[in-house]
Amino acid sequence: MELRGVEELMNLLHACRGVHDIPELTRSRLHPGGGTPVGDHVDLHDHALQTAALLRRSHPSDKELQVAGLVHDIGHLLGPGDDAGHADLAADAIRPLLGERVSGLVRLHVAAGRHPAAASPGPGPSPRNTLAPDAAGGATTRHEAAAFEHDLPAEDAVTLRQADDAGKVPGLYAGDLEDWRTLLELVAERSARLGAAD
Ligand SMILES: [Fe+2]
Ligand SMILES: [Fe+2]
Repeated sequence: MELRGVEELMNLLHACRGVHDIPELTRSRLHPGGGTPVGDHVDLHDHALQTAALLRRSHPSDKELQVAGLVHDIGHLLGPGDDAGHADLAADAIRPLLGERVSGLVRLHVAAGRHPAAASPGPGPSPRNTLAPDAAGGATTRHEAAAFEHDLPAEDAVTLRQADDAGKVPGLYAGDLEDWRTLLELVAERSARLGAAD
């Protein structure tokens, strides 16, 4: 599936309210016989906003990185139950709209979690150029390997993953989804211009 416009993407992000990814579900207590998660967890809507807000604070000039943080988990809605494929699903869906870099960052957000730098932010070996498939733990997908071959910014992928891991604070208000609409439109317009120039 490919997203045709920002409106469609915004609708998808709004639909993340009340939806949880699979690991979150298994950690959650469930209503007996229900399946609706309850308890102290963050739904994908709040997780998206928290992740994007963390990246806006740490990388205020990198709008594409912030947008990648906002949309990185929409694959859970596009393919419910396909936890292993959610990064690829999201990356494929947003590529025509938001461009190669945002798509690549989203695609790598799972693999980047296997890089040592993702687990220990701060001083240490730079992930730049070291997030090769082997360094990432071996279990990379064909898409991930292809992304690395295209020289995507591994350091940025690790930064996204660190925000992803930190953006799961129950009850933390991280702004309104509508506040991101203008930035999504800007990134989409820029991507369309670049695409037209190719
Ligand atoms: Fe994810
Ligand atoms: Fe996430």
